[in-house]
Amino acid sequence: MTRYAVMGDPIAQSKSPQIHSQFASLTKQDVAYEKLRVEAHEFPARVKAFFNGGGGGLNVTVPYKEAAFALADTASPRAALAKAANTLGMDVDGKLWADNTDGIGLVRDLENNNHCTIKGKNILILGAGGAARGAMAELIHRQPASLTIMNRTTSRADALREDFSGEFAIEVRELNHPDELLFDLVINATSMGLQNQTLELSSELFARNFTAYDMMYGATDTAFMLWAKSKEAGLVLDGLGMLVEQAAESFALWRGVRPQTQDVMLKLRDEL
Ligand code: ATR
Repeated sequence: MTRYAVMGDPIAQSKSPQIHSQFASLTKQDVAYEKLRVEAHEFPARVKAFFNGGGGGLNVTVPYKEAAFALADTASPRAALAKAANTLGMDVDGKLWADNTDGIGLVRDLENNNHCTIKGKNILILGAGGAARGAMAELIHRQPASLTIMNRTTSRADALREDFSGEFAIEVRELNHPDELLFDLVINATSMGLQNQTLELSSELFARNFTAYDMMYGATDTAFMLWAKSKEAGLVLDGLGMLVEQAAESFALWRGVRPQTQDVMLKLRDEL
């Protein structure tokens, strides 16, 4: 049996062990997956100890995604662009590699699970922290018509735009700045939902029947989802599918087999 784990702090809320144990039984892989609460000062040593002890791979969650990227010997292009990693592994030479599966998780959930095309769309991203960074590279690969960031702290949005300037001309706007574009898709990548808050955006920013995607999820609609419904969004989604899809990508990187995600999503939704 090969050991895997997710490291973060806090970690009690993590659904990753449930998700990965279902993937393991679906694909008949002999793996165990646990959650480990790790404090900041011990993070690098715990990662090394995990792999030295024969661990097969790690997921990394808040607040260690940047630290995980910094610790790795090599990084995938998408992790390098995000400057953050949620997946770590060790290659045969003992080199620690880093990847970031958050963006592909979001895009697969939008495109495969919800039939929402990104190509040619005007996309608004709320937030410029780690969650927004992680999603950016994969959204850009899907060739949206435009990508705009709104963030409370504009300097952070500007920094993100600079980091991706070689890839795509990202727009940065003040909150509620009137725009000539009408957004087709708005993605909430802020952590405001943790305080049960949302940004009050004018409905004049949005195309008819726009899609609203919250990277957060819960047993009931999040504040952002309630806002989107009040603005008559055509499709309102939470981040549960993204969570399962990013996990599936990590599992595929480690094990070389891609699990089916539909039943895992349904079961997780039932258990919320
Ligand atoms: P994460 O890794 O989840 O992205 P983060 O890096 O702390 O976490 O980023 C949180 C994001 O939510 C940021 O975009 C933050 O805005 P600032 O850059 O201005 O801090 C946004 N955010 C969090 N609480 C907010 C609030 N009460 N109002 C507006 N934006 C908020």
